[in-house]
Amino acid sequence: MSAQQSKVLAIIGQGYVGLPLAMAAVDAGWAVIGVDNFAAKVDQINRGISPVEDISDRQLNAAITSGLYKATTDFSEVAKASVITICVPTPLDDDRKPDLRLLRNAATGIAPHLVSQTLVVSESTSYPGTLRDTIIPIIHQYKSEETMDLFFACAPERVNPGDEIWNQKNTPRLLGAIDEESKVRALSFYESICDEVVAVSTPEVAEAAKLLENTFRLVNIALINEFTQLCSTSGINVHEVIDAASSKPYGFMPFRPGVGVGGHCIPVDPLYLTWWARQNGSKALFVESAASINHEMPRYVAERALKLVSSEVRNPRVLILGVAYKSGVGDVRETPVSELRDHLKSLGAQVSWHDPLVPNWEGSKQVGLEWECDVAILATLQPGMNLNQITARDIPILDCTNRLSNQPGVTSL
Ligand SMILES: NC(=O)c1ccc[n+]([C@@H]2O[C@H](COP(=O)([O-])OP(=O)(O)OC[C@H]3O[C@@H](n4cnc5c(N)ncnc54)[C@H](O)[C@@H]3O)[C@@H](O)[C@H]2O)c1
Repeated sequence: MSAQQSKVLAIIGQGYVGLPLAMAAVDAGWAVIGVDNFAAKVDQINRGISPVEDISDRQLNAAITSGLYKATTDFSEVAKASVITICVPTPLDDDRKPDLRLLRNAATGIAPHLVSQTLVVSESTSYPGTLRDTIIPIIHQYKSEETMDLFFACAPERVNPGDEIWNQKNTPRLLGAIDEESKVRALSFYESICDEVVAVSTPEVAEAAKLLENTFRLVNIALINEFTQLCSTSGINVHEVIDAASSKPYGFMPFRPGVGVGGHCIPVDPLYLTWWARQNGSKALFVESAASINHEMPRYVAERALKLVSSEVRNPRVLILGVAYKSGVGDVRETPVSELRDHLKSLGAQVSWHDPLVPNWEGSKQVGLEWECDVAILATLQPGMNLNQITARDIPILDCTNRLSNQPGVTSL
C-alpha cells in the first residue's frame, strides 16, 4: 500500500528558497518534510535555528512544534508526499558554465522512492529544457513511464531574500507543466500557498521567463554601471542624472550603480542564458557584454577609492564596509566584494572588512569600525552598521550605495 498522503509536501533543499517555501506551506496547512543532504544544516534546522534571514527562529520553532514540519537527510521520506519540489542550487562550474550536478543528484535521490500520482516540481533556476531533458529522464530511469503515473511541472522561484514587501505568498508564481493533468495538480498546489499563479503553456516558457527576468536586471545594472563611469569622467553626479530621468512617468526604470552584481541569481542566471544560446548555435552578445561590464566594476571601484588617498601614502589601509552581496542578508555567494578586495590588494592596499551580518568571510575575520584606515569603501550598507563611527572620523569614504550623500568626506560612486 502506498504511504503517500494527500497534503504532504517534500522539499529537496532547505536554503534561501526551500525553507521559506516550507514555512509558507505549513502556514497553508501542509505537512512538510524538508530534505537536505547537508546533515549539519538539517540538525541546525531541527534545533530551531534558522539558517536564512527571512525565516525567524520563532517561526521555525512554531512550525516544528506544530508537528507539521521537520527536516531530514533521508530521501526515502519523499514516498509520503503527494508533491515534491526541488529547490537545490544551480551554480556555475569552474568554466562559468551551468553546473546541474546538484539538480541531477536531487532527481537521482528522490527517483527510487517516488510513488504513483506524485507531482514533481522544479523550482530551481535553469535554462529552458532542464525539466524535460534532464530531470524527467533521470526519474524515468528508475520509474518507467509505462508503470507509474507521475506528474511534472516547473515553477521557478522568484523570492528576493531580505525583501520586506514581496515574499512567497504575494509574488505571482509562474507555472509551466508538462501536460494538462500535471498543470491541474500544480495549480492546485500553488494556489494553496500563493495569492496568484500565472500558468504558461510549457515548462520551457517558465524556465525562459525566469532567465529573462534576471537578465533584465543584469543588463540594466550594467548600463548604469557604464553610465556612472561616463558621468564620473565628466564630473557629473550620476545619481542626480538618474533622479532626473526618473521624473519621466513612463518608459524609464531607475537602477543604481554598485560594486558589481552578486548572489546566486543575477551574476549566474544570465550565464545559463548565454550558454543555452551557444548550445543552440546562437550568441547572446548583448548579455555577454553586460556581464563583462559588471565584472569590471570592482576594479573600477578599487581605483576610484585609492584616488581618494594621498599619493604620499604607500600601501594604503582600506576598510571595506559590507561584504554580503546585498543589504540585509549575510549571503556572500558571488559577492563582487571579493574581487574588490583582490583588486585593492593587487594595487598595494592593506584591506580589512566589517559586516555585522557576516561572521567570517573566506577564512578571514572582520575588524571593528574603529580600525585605522586611509579610506573606507561602503560596499553594502547593512542594518546594524553604525556608520556614524566612520563619518565622525576624518576619513574619506567612497559610498557605493548612495546612502550617505551630502555628508562631509563622502564621495558617491
Ligand atoms: N537565493 C535566491 O535569492 C533565489 C531566488 C530565486 C531562485 N533561486 C534559485 O533557487 C535554487 C536554490 O537556491 P537557494 O538560494 O535556495 O540555495 P541554498 O544554497 O540557499 O540552498 C540549497 C540547499 O540545497 C541543499 N542541497 C544541495 N544539493 C542537494 C541535494 N542533491 N539534495 C538535497 N539537498 C541538496 C544544500 O545543502 C542547501 O541547503 C537555485 O536554483 C537558485 O538559483 C534562488
